Amino acid sequence: MDTFKVYSLFDINIVKGDGCYVYDNVGNRYLDLYGGHAVILIGHSHPHYIARVTDQLNRIAFYSNSVINELQIEFVKRLEKQCGYPDYSVFFINSGAEAIENAIKLASFHTGRKKVLAFNKAFHGRTSLAVQASDFNAFKSPVNEAGSVTFTQLNDIESVKRELASGEYAAVVFEGIQGLGGINIPCDDFLRQLRDVCDETGTILIADEIQSGYGRSGKFFAHQYSGIKADIIAVAKGIANGLPMAAILISPKFKAIKGQLGTTFGGNHLACSAACAVLDVMDSEKLIENAYNIGNYLLERLKKVSQIKEARGRGLMIGIEFDFPIEELRKKLLFEHHIFTGISGKNVIRLLPPLPLSKEQADHFVVTLEKVLNK
Ligand SMILES: Cc1ncc(COP(=O)(O)O)c(C=O)c1O
Repeated sequence: MDTFKVYSLFDINIVKGDGCYVYDNVGNRYLDLYGGHAVILIGHSHPHYIARVTDQLNRIAFYSNSVINELQIEFVKRLEKQCGYPDYSVFFINSGAEAIENAIKLASFHTGRKKVLAFNKAFHGRTSLAVQASDFNAFKSPVNEAGSVTFTQLNDIESVKRELASGEYAAVVFEGIQGLGGINIPCDDFLRQLRDVCDETGTILIADEIQSGYGRSGKFFAHQYSGIKADIIAVAKGIANGLPMAAILISPKFKAIKGQLGTTFGGNHLACSAACAVLDVMDSEKLIENAYNIGNYLLERLKKVSQIKEARGRGLMIGIEFDFPIEELRKKLLFEHHIFTGISGKNVIRLLPPLPLSKEQADHFVVTLEKVLNK
């Protein structure tokens, strides 16, 4: 038996993590500017996280959603203090795609409508509805071609208005910052107009903050730069710093109907204890502020590197675009200088580091990048 080979693997065996570093099985240390794909928010192996999760493991790791789980309430109380949506309620699931799936389903239940509007270059996950709303055809099988999703250009409010005027759309779904599509930021003014047109047409506004949310952008949610509120917000990735967990935050305008949504694992005890620890550390170590400050600092430094076509992003979600394919550059950073980075497409390096990244670590990256580019 073997694993199903759907991933391109680097020949590196990571066995340990500490803060913004990971270590391989032969003791090499790597600066992690990829965060295991935007998942490690508070740093690897944080002592408070380990203590809280270990303690929970010693009590009970899982029981079903048929009984009271006080950890869910503890999590919600912590979240309401930090996220800017104190009157919303929370439904728990296990992955980003599931969050989007449930968000769209809820919008459709609520409006009785069947259509969804999404944006060019969007990525929302690989399950049936989520992949339909993703602008990556290679991820879609024939069974995913049900045709409920229409795509339009990000930041083009006139085409959004034309579509929504039909009154047929249950929801519009957008990423706080597009990740896989290349670190594309929706304009603040576009989001404000999008909010208005959704209100005028009775369309539900879904913010996918799976990659851009939870402090990564320098605000709790990236869409909060525009001052708008979404009706449903999807979160996943770093919410439990690596334990599978996701959630949707749901506006009070939705009525919970028993049995309409459900899950076996969502909101389990172990995941909730991890998620509480994440919010504790984000608060006590002021990680959102750090993401804002170090992110801006790093972006400004990158903008001065002459070989870079464009450096863009918010907080610690940064895209570095070149006018040449970056595969070799990325490999050199990894194998010669032990720095993990992500990619978007062929020409963009994507940085998604843990939020405690220090100025020294940011400097080290820029100096190393310049060294590799000038060689
Ligand atoms: C913006 C966005 N939405 C949804 C997803 C899907 O999340 P998951 O892989 O946990 O299903 C991702 C994953 O990369 C993402 O970046």
